[in-house]
Amino acid sequence: MEEKKTLYSGMQATGALTLGNYLGALKNWVRLNEEYDCFFGVMDLHSLTVRQNPAEFRQNARKLYALYVAAGLDPEKNCVYFQSHVSAHAELAWILNCFTYVGELGRMTQYKDKSLKHADNVNAGLFTYPVLMAADILLYQAAVVPVGIDQKQHLEITRDIAERFNKIYGDVFTIPDAYFGKHSAKIMSLADPTKKMSKSDENTNSHILLTDDKDTIIRKFKRAVTDSDTVVRYGEDKPGISNLMDIYGSVTGKTHEQIEEEFSGRGYGDFKLAVGEAVADELAPLQADYERLLKDKAYIDECIKKNDDRARYVSNKTLRKVKKKIGLTEV
Ligand code: TYM
Repeated sequence: MEEKKTLYSGMQATGALTLGNYLGALKNWVRLNEEYDCFFGVMDLHSLTVRQNPAEFRQNARKLYALYVAAGLDPEKNCVYFQSHVSAHAELAWILNCFTYVGELGRMTQYKDKSLKHADNVNAGLFTYPVLMAADILLYQAAVVPVGIDQKQHLEITRDIAERFNKIYGDVFTIPDAYFGKHSAKIMSLADPTKKMSKSDENTNSHILLTDDKDTIIRKFKRAVTDSDTVVRYGEDKPGISNLMDIYGSVTGKTHEQIEEEFSGRGYGDFKLAVGEAVADELAPLQADYERLLKDKAYIDECIKKNDDRARYVSNKTLRKVKKKIGLTEV
């Protein structure tokens, strides 16, 4: 039997997830997980670039783990683990820091955006964030990394670092490809469809949280900003409606043409309600499972332990190889 290729991805462990995180990443992970040997991290080290309240942070990281499982990532089949429990990530990140240029890190748009947003805390971690992300991916020899479009530049620098290293030391790292969902790589804000949907947006109507109840979801979609036209049609001149069509299509599997046909002659009100209902129905089983899993501490602990061990084993193989290649002494 042909060996499966490796898939790697993860999310920061900071608070609730949005529908953007779900459609842009998590849903694709679930869809692809039979095809690949999968590793999914709770990226708690990455979250440290912003000051965290320790008690809340601990809770949020566990909640994210439960949400992964509730969304359909079976921890018996996928390695779902905590980044901070596997020291190889920080070790390889240091080594790769020495193969990454300050100039290339300074060009990262996310660094520039976040430095503006957290001007009082532009720490070195924020700057070297993409190197830790490269270490995450390269440790597991991942071939595929399903993410939203906002991570594209980080994937590119990961490839650059890996190619640079391989050029000097031979084929140590697999060069990863980013994987983007067809119409879900950038889900936009419901309040301003020219901006990415983000949980850090202060306007709570701008984003759907995966934990929002049905009434809230429908209310937020009803309020979604659209144009003053009435025709459900996909197009650059209609960012609000196009975003809702992307959401509806990602959830139902319908194409833009099918959606246009379904709502031809019907107004925006009908369409918005249908999107809200489809999203709420999609999230209902996930929410029920999530509530159940949050109460089952023993099960979650057992999954974490087992998968941490596997992640340590796999990542250490790569780390040992790297150390040997660069000439760090062994006994
Ligand atoms: P994070 O935690 O910001 O986001 C998690 C995932 O959700 C995607 N995403 C979106 N996709 C579509 N539309 C949106 N509005 C939207 N908002 C968020 C993100 O692209 C991402 O895929 N640096 C990463 C975490 C990370 C990682 C890794 C990912 C750390 N190490 C290694 C892959 C591989 C991040 O901050 O994602």
